[in-house]
Amino acid sequence: MFQSTPDLSSHRFVRACLRQPVDRTPVWFLRQAGRYMPEYMAVRRHHSLLEICKRPDLAAEVTITAAEKLAVDAAIIFADLLLPLECMGLDFEFQAGEGPVIHKPLRDAAAIDALQTTRAGELSYVGEAIQRVVAHFHGRLGMIGFCGAPFTLASYMIEGGGSRHYLHAKKVMYNSPDVWDALMQKLVDVTAEYSAAQVAAGADVIQIFDSWVGCLSVEDYRRYVLPHVKIMVQRLQKTGAPIIYFGTDSATLLPAMNETNAEVIGLDWRIPLDKGWSDLNHRCAVQGNLDPVLLFADWKELKSRAEHILQLAAGRPGHIFNLGHGILPETPVDNVKNLARFVQEYSHG
Ligand code: CP3
Repeated sequence: MFQSTPDLSSHRFVRACLRQPVDRTPVWFLRQAGRYMPEYMAVRRHHSLLEICKRPDLAAEVTITAAEKLAVDAAIIFADLLLPLECMGLDFEFQAGEGPVIHKPLRDAAAIDALQTTRAGELSYVGEAIQRVVAHFHGRLGMIGFCGAPFTLASYMIEGGGSRHYLHAKKVMYNSPDVWDALMQKLVDVTAEYSAAQVAAGADVIQIFDSWVGCLSVEDYRRYVLPHVKIMVQRLQKTGAPIIYFGTDSATLLPAMNETNAEVIGLDWRIPLDKGWSDLNHRCAVQGNLDPVLLFADWKELKSRAEHILQLAAGRPGHIFNLGHGILPETPVDNVKNLARFVQEYSHG
């Protein structure tokens, strides 16, 4: 239940991650600084996506503008999941309308063997951007750093871009499990170092995006992914920051994902929040889980669906309101703003 005099020594967002009581439900949105926002598009007209990521002044500006405009409880650093690929030796680009394109996808053991794992320091521009955002907010908002989970990163590296069936990635998994495990280990090494640097720069919490893990059966998840994510979470927890482990299409995977011991598990909209939380035995906090497409609905419908999620959370400590996946381009900004305010007012007191 909510307490009336909150402990202000840590932010309500961080407290909710730790399932501590809060004055009201914290809210932020996946992909809150994206193409739906005119201020972002104005920066984007003059700079490529990678340029924004690599210039701490621009990355910080875009992060701060979105969080302030929406008046949310946490800022997520503006970066991209794929940045670590570059320092592992894989070049990629973002092609308009196509998403990411990896120039030479990994297709054999030799290519995986050649991946480098000692250059995570080259991503220091992300830490510099975090420092700027933290200096701006002075603890008024939670600061989220993030990285990709090994499966989701490997799927981009092997497929060469987005994928429907993950055919090439699954072929490596099934036909060359040792090579697969070696790739997972390399990814955990790089992302653990990268995330620790984000915490050192001031991130309060690290979110691990396993966006496409829902393409796996429970059996395959347990065999090929879970052992690696467990190690990754353990290593990240040594930084002292709570960990949010996020996946989509993951309803069947929740009991296995729970074994990672992450402080927070992200839920997508395909599972009712109370069912998802009970499948996790209420061990952890949960983050979610409104369908991002509901942001295109009339306010009456949007509000009632948000209210329903808050009712399913039932004031239990450890709910962070969010979408089930990222905000889509063309989303009406006012709906996002109104939703944040509604969650904050509804859950207060
Ligand atoms: O506010 C924010 O959260 C923005 C920061 C952010 C970006 N990428 C910038 C970006 C974050 C958190 C990401 C994570 C990311 N990147 C994920 C996981 C998130 C999820 O929703 O599951 C993934 C899978 C990627 C890889 C990626 N980057 C893809 C597949 C694409 C193209 C598809 C698309 O959404 O356009 C990108 C491009 C990208 N990364 C954009 C932004 C704002 C949009 C393109 C642009 O501005 O040119």
